[in-house]
Order: sequence, then structure tokens, then C-alpha cells
Amino acid sequence: MNGMSTRLGGRRRRALAGPLVAAAIAGLVLAACGGSSGTSTTSSSSGGGGAAAGKIALLLPETQTTRYEAFDRPYFVAKLQALGYNTGNLIYSNANQNATTQVSQAEAAITNGAKVLVLDPVDSKAAAALADKAKTNGIPVISYDRLILNSAGVGYYVEYDSVTVGKLQAQSLIDALTKLGKTKPTIVEINGDPADNNAKLFKQGAHSVFDPLVSAGKLVIAKEYDTPNWTPAQAQNEMQQALTALGNKVDGVYAANDGTAGGAFAAMQTAGLNPIPPLTGQDAELAAVQRIVAGQQTVTIYKPIKPLAETAAQAAFDLASGKTPDTSVFSTKVNNGAADVPTHQIDVVAVTKANIKDTLIKDGFYTAAQICTAAYAAACTAAGLQ
Ligand code: BGC
Repeated sequence: MNGMSTRLGGRRRRALAGPLVAAAIAGLVLAACGGSSGTSTTSSSSGGGGAAAGKIALLLPETQTTRYEAFDRPYFVAKLQALGYNTGNLIYSNANQNATTQVSQAEAAITNGAKVLVLDPVDSKAAAALADKAKTNGIPVISYDRLILNSAGVGYYVEYDSVTVGKLQAQSLIDALTKLGKTKPTIVEINGDPADNNAKLFKQGAHSVFDPLVSAGKLVIAKEYDTPNWTPAQAQNEMQQALTALGNKVDGVYAANDGTAGGAFAAMQTAGLNPIPPLTGQDAELAAVQRIVAGQQTVTIYKPIKPLAETAAQAAFDLASGKTPDTSVFSTKVNNGAADVPTHQIDVVAVTKANIKDTLIKDGFYTAAQICTAAYAAACTAAGLQ
């Protein structure tokens, strides 16, 4: 197929120039979907038309990272509503970071007659059995944000380029350290959950920037941790251990997402580090954006969630209606160890104090008022946000 390429293992680097898509206010929709985290719900009926579309199951992984309940789920539901889907037929589950719970939730969805599974796996390998089972039952699976590995049952994948995320984080950290005049900085590296394939790719991207500097004697990675379950409290423990072992002599911290950055920040604050050394993250969580405004975090990686959720919702709607999703949308292929999976990839962007306005605010991801609460008013003014 024209323009289609296959990737195996490492990812190609992507240009970041693509325009960001405007986002809708997520909270309004969230209020309409009902149900609490860690549970499975079938939403109350709404919307007209789309009567022919069967049940769609959306299975998200956890709640300690804010994106899933605040953005992924509401954007997905809003898109289905816009398509005229009867959201009474939507089966929604959040596994609360428990892979066993997710297996039960997916099996329940299959038993309840789901015609398509949209699955963001807690454990990228363990989910293979689920995708295999779905295939046996003739149910297509859309892998959402994280790739389900080693199963031919994965029909589609919507993603961001996670290796690029790791590279941007690492390069932003190095740039900040260079700006501070550090010629051989000592850093701590806090990676994500080893069971999450994305965590592996973020780490790979970060090391592709760090390792040549380490070899050249221009960087020291004094401590490196994998953080099971992406738990912020665990990241805080890791950072605390590192600070103790290094006598607080840390020039910068690579944290794989904003949740773990929050943990690392708390540990540094408790240890009395002032100013807080350069610190990375990802997800553009509100607390992280506020830390960036306040000079307590250097960068976050903004992954526009609206186009990801909408692409998945459109494909799920098509499949649940007995149609084939638009093949031109799934224009790349990513190999998951068992199949080349038709994939749609969304561009990401590094956000620092300098471009919050041109990215997150311009996109409608947050309003200036949401970021600039009383505690951040002065910093917001200084940053030109209000
Ligand atoms: C996602 C990140 C998220 C992390 C923890 C990763 O797979 O891509 O956006 O912060 O999981 O849920």
C-alpha cells in the first residue's frame, strides 16, 4: 500500500511540526458518563441514531494518572455521541492498575456481547491472551496508546511515538542542564512500569540521548530505577533513596511521566533542594503544568488526547457497525511480535514555560484560568499567561 511502512522494534523519529488539534472541554462529558474508577459500567442511554452499531467496550488501565478519566474517556464518549451512537451500549471499565482485574473486565465485556474491544493494557504481554480470546470469538481489538504484544488478535493500534517522547524528555533535560552551565551533570533516571511496553520505549528514547554523553564523559546517570505500576509514591521513594545515597548532589532528574515527576518533586522538596533541579515529565497534567509555571519542573510532553480518542472511537464505531475502518487513517504498521498492526500515530510536543500558551491553551486542553489559580497567579503573570 502506498505510503505504508513497517516498523519493528525501534521507531522512526517524527517531525513535531504538525498542527495541534483543538480540544473540547472534557469535564462536561465526563459528568454524563457515570460510573466510578476501578469498576465497570454501562452508561445511561443517550443520543439518537446509530441503532445498528453493537456494543463497544472501552478498557482503560488506571486512575492515578489523570489523563484516563479526565480526557481519554470523555473524548471517546463525546465522539461516539457525535456519531449518533447509543452510549447505553458502551461498556466502560478502568482496571485501576491491576492486570488481573483487567482480564476479568475484558472477559465480562466479551460475555456481555461486546462487538469490539478498545483496550489500553495494564500489562502489554499479559493482554495477549485477551486479544487471542477476542479473536477466537470474532471480536476485533483496537490497542489503545499501549501496544498489546505477541497477539495476532490486535486489529488496529492508535498511538504516539513513544521513543520520540523519551528523546524529547531527555534532550529537554540536557538542554536545561547546559543552560545552567553544567558540563558533567549528575542525573537520576526514573523510568515507568516495566510491564508497560510504552515505558520500555520511553526509556529506549531517553537512553539514545543520554548514552553517547555518558560514553563521552559528559553525563553521569548516578541512579536509575524502573517504577512498578507507575506509582508516584514509589517514584518518591526512589528519589529519596537517590538523594540519600548521593548526599543531595543531583543536577537533574529524568522522570518518565508527570505522576512520577510529582513523586520526585516531593522528595526533592522534602530534602530542601532549592531551586528544584531540572525535571522532566509527560502528559501535561495540570499539576505538572503548574509546576512548570512555578519553575519547579522543566518540561512535560503534551500528547494531544482528543485525536487519539476520536480515532479509536471512530474505528470502534465502524467495527461495531460491521464496517471496515478507513484504511487511510491507519497508514503505518507496527509489528507487535505476532502481526503487523495497522496503526495511526499522533504527533507529540515538548512543553516548557515558553510555549504553554501556544500549545496547551491554544489547543483548549486547559484555559489560563485553570492553570493560573491563586497560588500560581504571580508566576502566571511573569510567564505572560494572564
Ligand atoms: C502512557 C502515559 C502514562 C503512563 C502511565 C503510558 O503508557 O503512554 O501517558 O503516563 O502510561 O499511565
